[in-house]
Amino acid sequence: MKLAELQVLHFDATAFRLTPADLAAAGGLQQAWVISTCQRVVIVTAGRAARERINDRLAVAARAQCFSGADAYAFLLRFACGLESRLAGETEIFGQIKESWRVFSAAPGLLSRQLDSWVQLLFKDTKEVRAGPLSSLGSASYGSQVRRLLGAGASGPTLLVGAGQLAQTVAPWLETTELLLWNRSRERAVELARLVRERNPERACRVLEESAEAELAAWTSAADVVLCVPADAGRDAQRIAAWRARSREGGRIVHLGLGSDAAGSHWQGVVGLTSLTALFDMLRAQSDQRSLQLTRARRACAEKAVLRSLGPSATQAHGWEDLAAFATISP
Ligand SMILES: NC(=O)c1ccc[n+]([C@@H]2O[C@H](COP(=O)([O-])OP(=O)(O)OC[C@H]3O[C@@H](n4cnc5c(N)ncnc54)[C@H](OP(=O)(O)O)[C@@H]3O)[C@@H](O)[C@H]2O)c1
Repeated sequence: MKLAELQVLHFDATAFRLTPADLAAAGGLQQAWVISTCQRVVIVTAGRAARERINDRLAVAARAQCFSGADAYAFLLRFACGLESRLAGETEIFGQIKESWRVFSAAPGLLSRQLDSWVQLLFKDTKEVRAGPLSSLGSASYGSQVRRLLGAGASGPTLLVGAGQLAQTVAPWLETTELLLWNRSRERAVELARLVRERNPERACRVLEESAEAELAAWTSAADVVLCVPADAGRDAQRIAAWRARSREGGRIVHLGLGSDAAGSHWQGVVGLTSLTALFDMLRAQSDQRSLQLTRARRACAEKAVLRSLGPSATQAHGWEDLAAFATISP
């Protein structure tokens, strides 16, 4: 497949959310690779005809941002490098894309064969951008930001609520005397505890019963709480009441499922709370050095996409026409 045939549709979840039925329609019959994260849905396919078939199957396709050819590759590269993420430069997204590809390509189909060599190049280029312009950016993961917020000196257990994708990336970063794990379905919390112990055998780690009461009891004994579950008005009111009833002073709550809806909710005015939106605001205020590196990394993604459009094995610009193509890339 030529790079010119690569097609990408991008739905930003802050502007528009696809329903599970939309996702099923988009990816139907293995005609598209659908990558779904909490911030966006990216649909990848080959050829304009395939893209038109998606437009026919998916009524909301007109609301997508569309890319083709080298622009599509450049978008996927920025996406995999974390440059499209709200936590710019974050590293977790690459793992999510690789996992999505592993699942998609495990089912044999024409599209996975057509995309395979481009996806391998995408992974290679992602590693190069991360090792080049994004190296020494400083740790840009949700876990590292949470660790920075909580500090290392909490004088009691940390409660982690949730055991999904985000909780799995955050848990290893939590430095605490004891990690308490609670999840709606206990077996996922047990699996998370196994992963934590595998990475850090010294870490004291306890899986709580899955009842709501067990979670609320942990809120009263924990020094800090990290939530990796969606906000839930009813449950959150109970959590806040338990937090306020504690005998201990201080402590922090980091709620990564709580976006701009924190204002006007039960969470408003809760002392020690950091929502996901507040975490993004804090990062935005960080140094100019970080934004300079991100600009360089975005440029590197655009340059690599132009190189890839010259041929899969191109490693540098060869002629005046190629240099002209580079001149069109804005810094
Ligand atoms: N993944 C990211 O990079 C990322 C980044 C920033 C923010 N977030 C936010 O963090 C939250 C979790 O994301 P995720 O990626 O970890 O999702 P996920 O892998 O789907 O896991 C969802 C987690 O939330 C729990 N959960 C879902 N609905 C629930 C409910 N009604 N009551 C109680 N627990 C519920 C799930 O419990 P079960 O195991 O029992 O289903 C699981 O622990 C979301 O609000 C997401 O928007 C995620």
